[in-house]
Amino acid sequence: MAKARAVYPQVEVGAVALMDKRLVLCPPRSTIARVLARGADAQVFVTGPRAAVRRRELARAAGWGLGGLRAADIAWAGLPVVGPRASEIEVRRLLERGAPLVLVRGGRRVLGVVDGERVEMLPASLSVAGRLERTGDRSAEGRVWLLRVAGKVGEGMGVPVFAVGGFVRDLLRRDGIGGAGPDLDLVVEGDGIAFARRLAEEVGGHLAVHSEFGTASIEGALGAAGGESAGASLGRVDVASARRERYEAPGALPLVSPAPLVEDLRRRDFSVNALAISLAPSGFGRLVDPLGGQQDLRSRRLRVLHPLSFVEDPTRIFRAARYAARLGFGIHAETLRALSLALKVGRYPALSGDRLGAELELLAGEPVAAKAFKLLLRWGALRLWNHNYWFMPISLRRLAAASRFVAWARSGGIGVDPGEIYLVALLFDQRPRTKAAVLDRLAVRGEAFDRLWAGLAAEPLARGLARAHRPSLLADILRGKPVTVLAAAWMVGGASIRHRVEWFLGEGRAVRPVLTGEDLLALGVPRGPGIGRCLAALRRERLDGRLVTVAQERQFVKEYLLRKEA
Ligand code: CTP
Repeated sequence: MAKARAVYPQVEVGAVALMDKRLVLCPPRSTIARVLARGADAQVFVTGPRAAVRRRELARAAGWGLGGLRAADIAWAGLPVVGPRASEIEVRRLLERGAPLVLVRGGRRVLGVVDGERVEMLPASLSVAGRLERTGDRSAEGRVWLLRVAGKVGEGMGVPVFAVGGFVRDLLRRDGIGGAGPDLDLVVEGDGIAFARRLAEEVGGHLAVHSEFGTASIEGALGAAGGESAGASLGRVDVASARRERYEAPGALPLVSPAPLVEDLRRRDFSVNALAISLAPSGFGRLVDPLGGQQDLRSRRLRVLHPLSFVEDPTRIFRAARYAARLGFGIHAETLRALSLALKVGRYPALSGDRLGAELELLAGEPVAAKAFKLLLRWGALRLWNHNYWFMPISLRRLAAASRFVAWARSGGIGVDPGEIYLVALLFDQRPRTKAAVLDRLAVRGEAFDRLWAGLAAEPLARGLARAHRPSLLADILRGKPVTVLAAAWMVGGASIRHRVEWFLGEGRAVRPVLTGEDLLALGVPRGPGIGRCLAALRRERLDGRLVTVAQERQFVKEYLLRKEA
């Protein structure tokens, strides 16, 4: 039986002292349901020379109705193996680098397994306080001030406080705090909401409490009065109580309950997002890395923290694509296997369309969105939108076009919705039934649905544009159409169509006559719908370059009236 919660350093007794012998060897093809029925006392099931899975992981999968999968499908593979004489230090090193389990072998026999979750680790001594102080600008300065205040508030309340998530990841990656880094995520081992209230009293800003999730956020805190960062806006601070999560169904929102920091880190998406920094004044800047996050940052790879991670929360597949593209990271082989498993096992009815839609928006908002969507295509992940979504090579071209259009529009200050534009690119070549099913799955309704549906049928529009040789005709065709629809025509059309759409969005749609309705009344155009018609005629003449000056417009109106009278 494992020597649970053994604290290092201690008398050196070797790997054997840490290992659990309650294990069962499973034939490679046995199903989860079968092995659970057979190994009543086993805590760990060994499924291969370097693969094993914990009882509770099998039970969790069985509880979701996945008992028919092979145990090997959800086992940890590529586990480190040591001999019975291996030292305790050697095993601990492996665990510290993120190994969930270590197999202890004597010859061909597996003698036992050391479970990283049952071995208490010494708090790491590495401090990143130096990196935190390397701030560079006023707003970064302000964030460090805020972190210190948070640590003091926590100390006053007797609760440990940590910075976690993207802030820590980017701090370690960049070797310093960037001013416009991600939001600050704080985790409190205790009552996060009570802590957030006290913190807001100290740092100001607007506090929003989400009691149903046990979280709170502070927006618009300002840097310390009188300090370097005085008045600098510090962005958003999210505060949560450290928690464990339980998923009642794959893809559903989890049920949460209070837990120590280490468990909170274990429930997270990737090891590089599961690092924490202590903010306590006595240990400010101490790095907590129980899951090998630093090692993965150095190796530039994303690694999930357990084989069922993507099954529990399939939105992590979109997050994987987003981080891989943004950070230029690879995906760990076992993580790819976990991803394929998640795509194989289900359709995730408990995963809401709103959550899928939110991931799409986040992804589309990235500067490297096309790269991230390409990864999703390569993984076959858009089957999460609809099981009939089929990869078409032409979608890669459409993605590249969408990316160019979004970049062009942004550089010209033209408002676009990248989420809609990438969605058109990804759905354009799917069958009509799949297009409709995906929009329904993503809970797209109302005007957004109308825009996207029109965009997905933009080919006739593109053909019409190809035939419109006068600017006024072009403008008549395009006026009133949403940018998403114009973008769709741009993406599917050739160079001349792209040029026309760009001209319309960049200049054409802003062209107006200088004369106003009042001016037309003064010139004798009768009040009523005729005013609008005359203004439209003026605009067309201007668009086609036949009217340039106000005098010419006046002359045109006079002749227009004569023609009407004739
Ligand atoms: N998280 C998770 N699983 C999710 C969403 C979030 O485990 N499906 C955890 C991760 O540890 C993540 C943290 O919650 O780091 C905060 O999530 P989020 O704010 O979305 O990401 P950031 O860490 O802030 O990173 P970025 O903003 O750069 O995406």
